[in-house]
Amino acid sequence: MRDNLFYHRIPTHMTMSEKEKLFQLTQELPTQPCIVEIGSYLGASSSFLAMGLKQFSKGGILHCVDTWNNDAMDNIPQKDVYNEFVSNICELVDVIQAHRGYSQDIAATCESSINMIFFDGNHSYEGTLRDWLSWKKYLSVGAVVVFHDWGWAEGVKKVILDEVHPNVSMFDTLPNMWWGYYKGD
Ligand SMILES: C[S@@+](CC[C@H](N)C(=O)[O-])C[C@H]1O[C@@H](n2cnc3c(N)ncnc32)[C@H](O)[C@@H]1O
Repeated sequence: MRDNLFYHRIPTHMTMSEKEKLFQLTQELPTQPCIVEIGSYLGASSSFLAMGLKQFSKGGILHCVDTWNNDAMDNIPQKDVYNEFVSNICELVDVIQAHRGYSQDIAATCESSINMIFFDGNHSYEGTLRDWLSWKKYLSVGAVVVFHDWGWAEGVKKVILDEVHPNVSMFDTLPNMWWGYYKGD
């Protein structure tokens, strides 16, 4: 059985506190929640979300959305990393469904109401706005909305301040992670 240390060793830019916060946020979700993650890469954040689902006996599913081609990642060449992702999360597959493709295309096929969404895909203003607009129509009232990289990515910060913040009832932050509770349009 893999332990926390194994999952903390998956290469990522996420800090331990950010991964632990994702884990904790799953505790607040209703039973059988639908979680969506945009940008899973090698599975670091995915594994903490999935471990939260299991630890707190929530049931439900984590939908991981990515091209797994290192899209829009500064200084990282395009490369197929899907097998690495699958290998890293293989003990969590009972609560994970992978959706390979562009976020906006996968969003168009969504049939669930979403209880938690974690945005960590394209960090440009256009990419972040496209993701927000593609997915927000599926959010349930009270859904936990999390963005990574708001501390340095100006586009992410602008989308949060202009578009997301007016639609949340409360929010909180870590230096590079922002989350709030969706209250509807
Ligand atoms: C910063 S990484 C995600 C890091 C990951 N959350 C972790 O814990 O390490 C960004 C990921 O988003 C993916 N990505 C970027 N733009 C995308 C898009 N439009 N649709 C789907 N995936 C995208 C990339 O392929 C990459 O795997």
